[in-house]
Amino acid sequence: MHSMSEPVVFENVTKIFWGSKRVVRALDNASFKIPSKTVAGLLGPNGSGKTTSFKLVMGFLKPSSGKVSVFGVDPWVRGESVRRRIGYLPEKPVYPDVPVYRYLRYVAKVRNASEEDVSRIVRLVGLSGYVWMNTRGLSRGYLQRLGLAQALIGDPELLLLDEPTANLDPLSRREILELIKDLKKELGITIVIATHILPELQEVVDYLLYINRGRVVESGMLEELATRYYVDAYYYIEVEEPRKLASRLVVEDYVRGVEIRDKSLVVRINAAFKEELLRVLSLPEYSIGIRRVEMLTSELGELYEKLSGSSR
Ligand SMILES: Nc1ncnc2c1ncn2[C@@H]1O[C@H](COP(=O)(O)OP(=O)(O)OP(=O)(O)O)[C@@H](O)[C@H]1O
Ligand SMILES: [Mg+2]
Repeated sequence: MHSMSEPVVFENVTKIFWGSKRVVRALDNASFKIPSKTVAGLLGPNGSGKTTSFKLVMGFLKPSSGKVSVFGVDPWVRGESVRRRIGYLPEKPVYPDVPVYRYLRYVAKVRNASEEDVSRIVRLVGLSGYVWMNTRGLSRGYLQRLGLAQALIGDPELLLLDEPTANLDPLSRREILELIKDLKKELGITIVIATHILPELQEVVDYLLYINRGRVVESGMLEELATRYYVDAYYYIEVEEPRKLASRLVVEDYVRGVEIRDKSLVVRINAAFKEELLRVLSLPEYSIGIRRVEMLTSELGELYEKLSGSSR
């Protein structure tokens, strides 16, 4: 059973690669759903089945058994119609050796996008100075930008990014990360990111899927997993008198740290004690001055360690 609202649904999916010497179970009875309109992080050690999952979503691979549904249909059977709605940044892209603009114009034609869209996206990913260069001449970082550009053309509803910040220098990574943050604000887009760079993912992710050796170890909203695994979380609280609230909070033993800013506090707590924190905040003497409470992030690195510990 699955609802149409999740863009990606895997039901008991197994993918076996039959080599001449070795049989690899890249996915092993994997079931999961990517919730609509979230940024989902696909995590797992090398060789755990992340790229294979993307290829199954794209309909490039046929599952050995089980069922893959993308927008409610089987991408292996209806690949063309499914792929029109997906932007995919592959792990190891291969481009025809033509000038960048010619390649992107070709992509735009296939995906019913306009010349203006191409120019806008070229600027967005920082490829402007490179449109006349043959793809062969691009450095790895610029190839990565080209990969992002072709994925973004045609307003995809689902964006699959296989290591989007790989090969980028620190400033470029920042730019791409900010770009993903902007995309996140766009209505109706679901983004799945496979990456090993947790501090970056932490800034954008809502939902996590952790796989190991082709098996789904854990999945859920970040906040829910942080709570379940007793990971620290940071809460941002906008408040009239931050000092007064801070002195009340520091006596709670689940509070790991309090940072006072101008008219706000950042409180680090064990995520499992969120309700306790909210209870204190709702007390009349504090609640009056509070204007906003928001979870900033959880410690994704800490969560990852716990998840990989539980799958050994
Ligand atoms: N075409 C193929 N033929 C044979 N084995 C394959 C093929 N594609 C993937 N595999 C194997 O399937 C397993 C999962 O690979 P996959 O590329 O999905 O992992 P990954 O999670 O993306 O890893 P990484 O983090 O290193 O990118 C690996 O053992 C890999 O060697
Ligand atoms: Mg991979």
